[in-house]
Amino acid sequence: METIGACPAKPAGPRNPWLAYAALYRDPLGYLTRAARKHGDVVHIKIGRKSDFLLNHPDLIRTALLDHENLRRCVHRPLRRVLGTGLLTCRGERHKKQRALLQPMFNRERILALSDVMVDQITRWADRWRDGASVDMAEEMTDLAISISGKALFNIDFDSKAAELRDALLTVLQATRFNNLALVSKQFEKISLPSHRRFARAAEKLDMEIRGMIAERRKGACEDPDLLSVLVRLHKQSRKGITEQKIRDQMLTFFMVGNETPATGLMWTWYLLAENADVATKLRNEVDHVLGDRLPSGQDFDRLRYTRMVFAESMRLYPPVWLMTRRAVRDTKINGFVIRSGSYVHVSPFVTHRDARYFPEPERFDPERWTPEAAAARPKFSYFPFGGGSLQCIGEGFAWMQGVLTIATLARRWRMRLVPGHRIELDPHITLRSRYGMPMVLEPRK
Ligand code: HEM
Repeated sequence: METIGACPAKPAGPRNPWLAYAALYRDPLGYLTRAARKHGDVVHIKIGRKSDFLLNHPDLIRTALLDHENLRRCVHRPLRRVLGTGLLTCRGERHKKQRALLQPMFNRERILALSDVMVDQITRWADRWRDGASVDMAEEMTDLAISISGKALFNIDFDSKAAELRDALLTVLQATRFNNLALVSKQFEKISLPSHRRFARAAEKLDMEIRGMIAERRKGACEDPDLLSVLVRLHKQSRKGITEQKIRDQMLTFFMVGNETPATGLMWTWYLLAENADVATKLRNEVDHVLGDRLPSGQDFDRLRYTRMVFAESMRLYPPVWLMTRRAVRDTKINGFVIRSGSYVHVSPFVTHRDARYFPEPERFDPERWTPEAAAARPKFSYFPFGGGSLQCIGEGFAWMQGVLTIATLARRWRMRLVPGHRIELDPHITLRSRYGMPMVLEPRK
């Protein structure tokens, strides 16, 4: 690995690491952003034998995401316990095999085939909204994502259960709140606290739902090409060593990671559109021009160019997954610095996406940054909302299709206005949520 810029003997970092950790737990996004601007491309926080590194240069981010030999993905302890050994939590050969088995279900043709299912679900959503109603876009986007993934990945109608499932999903994800020591720490794990009991109940609810779905599908012919049917079919044929537990782990993984991520991305998109009237007008003009009086389809994806640019820019400012962490499994070197085995290496799309070296005036919402020429002029890992390498998001194509079709279908009929005076504050869990939700008033377009 080449060194980036002048490389001092030791990486820079805060002088008082205890204060740094305190600041990090109070305000992780603010602290990491300030630390990167102050200390540079490698920030080192060391307490005793424990070391954390934050990498802020695209070449170093590439190394962190692609070096699977030396760096292993870390998943929050509580989430790991719930997910078992699905795609997010398994490693090495096992991960390679699972990925190879699942990848064909996320290829371009399959996603194109799912686009009508997506539009159908989104249209039903738009039909339920009423003129002047005030809705929480955080909840709406999560429920919509659950109903889309229910149909597209599981071939199940989740509509009547969406709110119930959302509650269970969010309760489990609550445990991934950055500063939730009580659930994340091994020492606190066994203490009986109300939050632990809530977490256990929610995890059990999700487990029961998923097992119920599998049992139901096993009774039928399960000839359809959805993820659940394919896995149950393979299980019935007893091929590829697919046990019922493995199907459960995989389904729960997709449910956990495939809903809240696009939902968060879309919630922030509506927020940014409400705050930037010029962009919203341009977006609506494109949607009207491309679609006229009809609904969108997967074939419109390439034509909805500005809509894609809006979604890309929204995930730049508010990347749904704002931090990715790897643990060194042996001593390794990055940018000339020795990273000792057991150290944690972090990369943050939130921090890098707001770096003025790659995105001038980084706080400004400007979809024009995503013209093909402008995007090609930037280094590859200056933008990485979906990660990279062999652990890169398998649902990326699905998420883009879902995002663009949701924006186009809803913007065709509705304007969303922020409830005046509502407080907006970031709330970093495993996804980047809004602490007080996102209440918006709906207005039909003439
Ligand atoms: C805007 C939406 C989404 C974003 C920003 C996102 C982001 C990510 C990121 C950053 C990772 C890699 C984490 C790491 O390297 O540690 C990841 C992995 C993953 N994502 Fe997504 N994701 C999104 C939507 C989806 C959807 C819709 C699905 C399912 C249909 C999905 C399924 C997965 C799975 C299964 C993994 C683990 C992949 C592997 O390790 O092989 N994601 N996602």
